[in-house]
Amino acid sequence: MSTSKGAALITGASSGIGAVYADRLARRGYDLILAARDEARLGALAERLRAETGVAVEVVKTDLTRRDDIVRLEARLREDEGVSLLVNNAGAALFDTFTVADPDKLEGLIQLNITAVTRLAQAASAGFARRGHGTIINIGSIVGLAPELFPTSAVYGATKAYVLYLTQALHHDLSPKGLTFQAVLPGATRTEIWDRSGRGIENVPDEILMDVDELVDAALAGLDRGELVTIPSLPDPADWAAAQAARQALFPNLSARHPAPRYGVAATEAA
Ligand SMILES: NC(=O)c1ccc[n+]([C@@H]2O[C@H](COP(=O)([O-])OP(=O)(O)OC[C@H]3O[C@@H](n4cnc5c(N)ncnc54)[C@H](OP(=O)(O)O)[C@@H]3O)[C@@H](O)[C@H]2O)c1
Repeated sequence: MSTSKGAALITGASSGIGAVYADRLARRGYDLILAARDEARLGALAERLRAETGVAVEVVKTDLTRRDDIVRLEARLREDEGVSLLVNNAGAALFDTFTVADPDKLEGLIQLNITAVTRLAQAASAGFARRGHGTIINIGSIVGLAPELFPTSAVYGATKAYVLYLTQALHHDLSPKGLTFQAVLPGATRTEIWDRSGRGIENVPDEILMDVDELVDAALAGLDRGELVTIPSLPDPADWAAAQAARQALFPNLSARHPAPRYGVAATEAA
């Protein structure tokens, strides 16, 4: 790998948001490592980006529900000094009613949206902390903020709430070591995820469906502005700041020697 920006490893680069990240990061001068299952699509994207931008592009056929494949990417993130950016983007959605959903499908979703994201973030963090710099972009979702808005999305939304928490926690713990984190929370975005999940994109109202190019351009603008959390559709960042301030206002009372008086629990002797 050759450029001064280093290489960006992008998961789920074969379509949608990941493919647009690949395009934009190549144009910003990053070499690319593109991971997904569809090698032919990755190869075609790699060929186009090499021709159009001159950066080095490598394709790594990867199934992020397979442990061996994850371990291979982890090793790359830990050991390759040229990697400076991870886009933890690969993911899927599931809109099956919880009581009748196939538990194996739920587990597969958790493997892809949580386990792989966590293991890759950990490997990248270890490598970046050793080198004193590096950036991790985790793709969450606004569904992770709003369980009341999205019936039948309990597990998908919970995986995305995890992504937000993980990003905020890692920022807190590791930014002093020179690492940069960003959670991107897209709303409905025009990609294949809808058809893949069985909820056809035609069921999503056009007025809330963002174009994928606009989504990624806004997310990268958020990264340039130093945002820890980017919600591309949110007009006023003060609304997010207020939500975070309300959460943080709970901190002094989240743990105490005794339950709050309203529960009427008598204090016991100290053990
Ligand atoms: N589109 C939206 O409305 C929306 C909204 C909020 C958040 N998001 C998030 O955005 C991210 C990208 O999704 P997208 O909308 O761009 O959907 P997409 O077009 O379906 O892209 C998903 C990507 O993930 C890859 N992928 C899926 N399963 C994989 C596996 N087992 N191993 C490796 N790669 C796998 C796919 O590639 P292969 O099939 O080639 O493996 C594809 O490149 C996801 O995390 C999603 O949750 C999307």
